[in-house]
Amino acid sequence: MTTMNPHGGQLINRLVAEKDEAEVVALANTLTQIPVNNWTISDLDLIAVGAFSPLTGFMEERDYHSVVENMRLANGTVWSIPITLSVKPEVADRLEIGQQIALVGEEDHVIYAVMDVSSIYTVDQQNEAIKVFKTDDPAHPGVAKLYARPATNIGGSIQLLNRPKPKKFESFYFDPADTRRIFAERGWKTVVGFQTRNPVHRAHEYIQKSAMEIVDALFLNPLVGETKSDDISADVRMRSYLVLLENYYPQDRTFLGVYPAAMRYAGPREAILHAIVRRNYGCTHFIVGRDHAGVGDYYGTYEAQQIFSLFTAEEIGITPLFFEHSFFCTKCGNMASSKTCPHDKSEHLHLSGTKVRGLLRNGECPPPQFTRPEVAQVLIEGLRDPEYQV
Ligand code: ADX
Repeated sequence: MTTMNPHGGQLINRLVAEKDEAEVVALANTLTQIPVNNWTISDLDLIAVGAFSPLTGFMEERDYHSVVENMRLANGTVWSIPITLSVKPEVADRLEIGQQIALVGEEDHVIYAVMDVSSIYTVDQQNEAIKVFKTDDPAHPGVAKLYARPATNIGGSIQLLNRPKPKKFESFYFDPADTRRIFAERGWKTVVGFQTRNPVHRAHEYIQKSAMEIVDALFLNPLVGETKSDDISADVRMRSYLVLLENYYPQDRTFLGVYPAAMRYAGPREAILHAIVRRNYGCTHFIVGRDHAGVGDYYGTYEAQQIFSLFTAEEIGITPLFFEHSFFCTKCGNMASSKTCPHDKSEHLHLSGTKVRGLLRNGECPPPQFTRPEVAQVLIEGLRDPEYQV
C-alpha cells in the first residue's frame, strides 16, 4: 500500500450513498435550481471523489481570500488555486446563507449536486488574476475564463447525486479510491504521477523514464477536461498514449488513468495544485519539468519548480521531481538536458509546437528523435479525422 496520506489527512467522499439516493433526489427536486457548466460539473466531481481533498465544496469567502493572497486555506492547509462557483448577481440576490440549492447541468438538465450555501461574496477579479495567474492580460486563457464569469461567488459543501458520463475511454476513469487500491494491489510503494495536456513526446518520455528508474511505477495521468482550442483533443491524445505505452513502456510498471479536470494555465500555482491532486490519487512523487502548466511567455521556465520552496515537504506531502528542459542531442546520440550534455545548442533538436503541428497537418512525421513514429501516426490520423478535431 502506498503510504501516501491524502492532502489534509483524509480522503473526502461527497458522493451520495446509494441508500440515501431516493431521499436526496426528492429533496433536490424541491430546491432552487442553479444551472452549471461543464467546468463546474468537473470540479463537482473532483471534489466529490476526493481528488480535491480536503475541499468538501466550493470555497467560502475566507478560504477564497486566504488562497488568493497566501496560497493556503483559512486553516493553513496549502492550496494554490481558488475552486469557486460563480453565479450571476441577480441569482445570488435571491439566495440566502443556510439555503440548500440544486446544481443542474445547463445543457443536459441533470441534477448533479445539492449544495449548502454558506457564503455569498463578490470578488476582485483583477486581483485574483494578478495573484493566481501573475498577469491580468485578458489574452491569457485562464484570465479570459475568469473575466468571462460573474464576479459573485457562492461557497459551501456539496453532495454529488450524479456523475458526469465520460463520452469515450470510460475504462480509463479512476477515482482516487480506485487508484490507491490498484497501486496497493500491484505492490507499488512509490508511484510517480505525470500531468500532461499534450501528446507524450520524447522529452516527456525521457523525464518519465528517468523518474521510473527511482520509483516502482508511473501513473500517466493526462488532463482531459477543458483545454484551450489549439491543444490537441483528449481523444486523439488518449489513442497516442495507448500506442506509446504498448510499444515503449513496461506494462507491469505503468498505469494510465485520466485526470478529468479543466486546465487553468496558471503555471507555478497550478503545479502545486497538480501535485496535491496526484497525492490524493495515491502518488508519492510528481514530475515538474519546464514551464509546467504554462502558456505563452507568462512564466519563467523553472518558476513552477521554484514555487515548491515556499512550502515545507510535509505541507506538500508529495515529493516533486524536478527536471531540466530536455532534448535530443545529436552529438550525445540520446536524450539529455543541460545537466548531462556538454555540447553546443546547435546540436540540440528543438521543434516549436507550431512547427510540429504544421508537419503533422501535412501528414509528415516529426523526426523520431522528437516523437515516436507510432505516436506521430496517431496524431496525423487524428488531425485528419474531423470527428477528432476540437
Ligand atoms: S502541462 O501544461 O500539462 O504541464 P505538458 O503536457 O507539455 O504541459 O507537460 C507535461 C510535463 O512535462 C510538465 O511537467 C512539463 O514541465 C514537462 N515538460 C514538457 N516538455 C518538457 C521538456 N522538453 N523538458 C522537460 N520537461 C518538459
